[in-house]
Parts: sequence; C-alpha cells; structure tokens
Amino acid sequence: MSTGTQILFKRIHVANSHTLAAVTALGAYQSLEKALGMSGEEIIAQVKKAGIRGRGGAGFPAGLKWSFIPKNDPRPRYLVCNADEGEPGTCKDRDIMRYDPHLLIEGMAIAGYAVGAQQGYIYIRGEFVHEAERLESAIAEAYAAGHLGANLHGKGATFHLAVHRGAGAYVCGEETALLESIEGKKGQPRVKPPFPANVGLYDCPTVINNVETLSSVPEIIAQGGEWYSKLGVTNSTGTKIFAVSGHVNKPGNYEVELGIPLKTLLEEYAGGVKGGWANLKGVIPGGSSAPILPPAVCETITMDYDAIGKAGSMLGSGAVIVVNKSVCIVRALARLERFYRHESCGQCTPCREGTGWLSQIVSRIEAGKGRMEDLDLLTDICKNISGKTICALGDAAAGPVQGVLRHFRDEVEYHIKNGRCMVG
Ligand SMILES: Cc1cc2nc3c(=O)[nH]c(=O)nc-3n(C[C@H](O)[C@H](O)[C@H](O)COP(=O)(O)O)c2cc1C
Repeated sequence: MSTGTQILFKRIHVANSHTLAAVTALGAYQSLEKALGMSGEEIIAQVKKAGIRGRGGAGFPAGLKWSFIPKNDPRPRYLVCNADEGEPGTCKDRDIMRYDPHLLIEGMAIAGYAVGAQQGYIYIRGEFVHEAERLESAIAEAYAAGHLGANLHGKGATFHLAVHRGAGAYVCGEETALLESIEGKKGQPRVKPPFPANVGLYDCPTVINNVETLSSVPEIIAQGGEWYSKLGVTNSTGTKIFAVSGHVNKPGNYEVELGIPLKTLLEEYAGGVKGGWANLKGVIPGGSSAPILPPAVCETITMDYDAIGKAGSMLGSGAVIVVNKSVCIVRALARLERFYRHESCGQCTPCREGTGWLSQIVSRIEAGKGRMEDLDLLTDICKNISGKTICALGDAAAGPVQGVLRHFRDEVEYHIKNGRCMVG
C-alpha cells in the first residue's frame, strides 16, 4: 500500500523524531530560514495559493484568515494554536505534537512572522500531559538554537512561544472560549463579530489555527503554494490526517490526500470494516458532531469538504468513526448526546436546555419508554438549537440526532414500538 505524499507525518517514524537533533538532519527550520527572506505578504500569498483550509473543523481558508489581520494597527498581534483536540474521535494533533513538535513550532514561527505577531501560544488540552511536556522541551531547544525568541536566525524578527494548558472543557476548543481561557476567565464563547482577527486575545488582533493547519505551513513554504494546491481536489487541497476509529481492523491516524474515496481509506489503510464491508452500518466522517452516513453513501463518497457537505454531513476534524451492525444506533446516539449535554457551557438557552432535552429524550427511547411523538419533538428541538447559539456547540449536538433520524429512522421507530433494539 502506498502512503502517498506525507507532509505532516513524514518524520514521525525516525528515531527520536521529537528532538531537534533528529529533525535538523531532515531539514527542520529550513522553511523558516526561507520565510525570513520573504515579506509577510509574500508568505500569506503562498498560503492563499496553497488553498489550505483550517483543519480544526470549520474549514476556513487559512491564508484568507491571516490576511484579515489589520495593517498599520498599533496594537500587538498574537498567534494562537488550537491544540485542544476535544472533538470525540479526534487524535491527530496529538501525534504531531508527540512525534514532531518542531514541525508545529516551525509552522508557528513562520505564521507569526507573516502576520506580525511576536508572541504565540499553544493552547493544549490538560489531558495531553506527555504532549505538553514534549512541546515544552522542543520549545526550549528551539530557543537555544535561535529558531524562537528575539532576532530569529540573526535576521531581526522576534517570535516568542509558550504552552498554555487547558483544564478539560470541550467548549474551550471553540476559538473565542479558548481566548477567554488563556486570559484566565471562564471558558465561554464570545459573541462575534468582532472576530478574533480584529479583537482577539487581550482585545488585540489574533490569528487562531489548528495544530494540523499550522504544521502544514513549513512544507507550503518549502515547496510553494502552487505545489500544495495540486494535492487533493478542487476546494479541498493538500493532505489531511484522518483519525479512523471504531469497527475497523487497523484503527489509526492516516495522512492521505483529500478527496480519497472513503471506501479506500477504510479498506486499504484502516484494514477494512470488522466483519467485512457488508457488515458496515454507517460512518461518522468528521468527528462526533458530523451526521452519520449510511452504507450506500459510504460506498462512493470521497473525503473532501464539498462531497461530504453535499451528502448532508461534514469533514469537520477528520475523525472517521466506523460503526458496524453490532451497534444499536439509539444507544450510540444516547451516549453522544450525553456528552454534548455535559459540555454545554450553559451560556445560551437553546443549547443549555436543548442539549438536555435531546439527551433525555434519546435516553428515554433507548430505555424502551419512547413515544412516537418523540420523533417530531427531536426534530423540532434540533431546529430550535441549530444556528441559534453564540457558538456551534449547539449545532454539534443537533447534527448526530439529525443524521440518525435521516438515515436510521426505522431503527428508532422500532425501538419506540417494541421497547427494545432491533440489533438484539
Ligand atoms: C464546541 C467547539 C469545539 C471546538 N473544538 C476545537 C478543537 O478542539 N480543536 C480545533 O482546532 N478547533 C476546534 N473548534 C474550531 C475552532 O473554533 C476554530 O474554528 C479553529 O481553531 C480554527 O482553526 P483552523 O482554521 O485552523 O481550523 C471547535 C469549535 C467548536 C464550536
């Protein structure tokens, strides 16, 4: 099996790949050297040309985001890396930080220089103790070698970097809740606009990007935006790490070009569905908030933003959760909804109340006490949450319910009518 172009994982199989000595021999920080000879605008133009979209979930074009930072503004600017990795099923950023922390640091130094930020923060979830320690020692190595700090590579630019550990809240992965958390406040999302590019960390212009997005930057600078844009497919360029979990024989993180058929990803990379393809019940293609896709769709769909969007789901964080026919879909949904209920920060009424109702109703159906009216009630609640909250956590809670009602309604109805699961 060919693994294809590797950008993010190209060094992770080398011994001691987390150390500066090991990766310097493989070209680390040469892109920073190249970038320091370019202007900020030139770097942003390359990232725009690459067409890379944010890998944290929303898929916003990175170069465009960077270009929103106001020019001639006297306030300091910040670069923040979102390493919260809270979306269930997702564990891709963890591998980058664990096995090649210098790739992320180099990407951040380039991005910081490009947007004129002299200070960066990596906001990492509290549970990633080992990864935070790896980052901290890699940062110390980078400072000692002149890849971070004042006068980068002796060329005058300054970029400082620090790790900030979170304390275990899913909502702190939402970019403005994350900023609140760094500022030492309760991690609750802010009303937008203003967007962080204008009013971000400490009310200053701020770029926030996911670990995977920033770690792709060194290769874009090394090979050029044009080269990167030829990987993948239209509107979904480059490579992406898919974190494949659930009922596959070889779960794991796979870096592949965007646009790969889902069936190829599961069969050729992830070792196939447990019990065979015919035993597939569905796939959640982009983290737990992405609506599930039924087998008929999984048969032909490609893993890119447009194709998955058209199928009524989303590429999200790229966490592919595979479910085979041994699973009771109502039970799985009840488990997911309990998560969203627990993680709602409670700021917006539709999310605070709605996630609780969704969780209770699905759990009631699962317990054999459902009513046929519950189906319409669930649909109604989803409509009253989606798009009506400050952040997208509410939409994230509604997505799984909508997906199950769209593709597995018969199974939910069976549960209600018979008070038990058809799976047995
Ligand atoms: C509830 C919620 C949780 C989120 N969690 C994460 C996360 O853990 N990691 C992440 O990178 N983005 C997360 N996001 C998306 C961020 O708000 C933001 O879009 C992202 O950090 C931007 O970086 P990108 O453009 O590189 O993807 C979350 C969004 C929401 C609404």
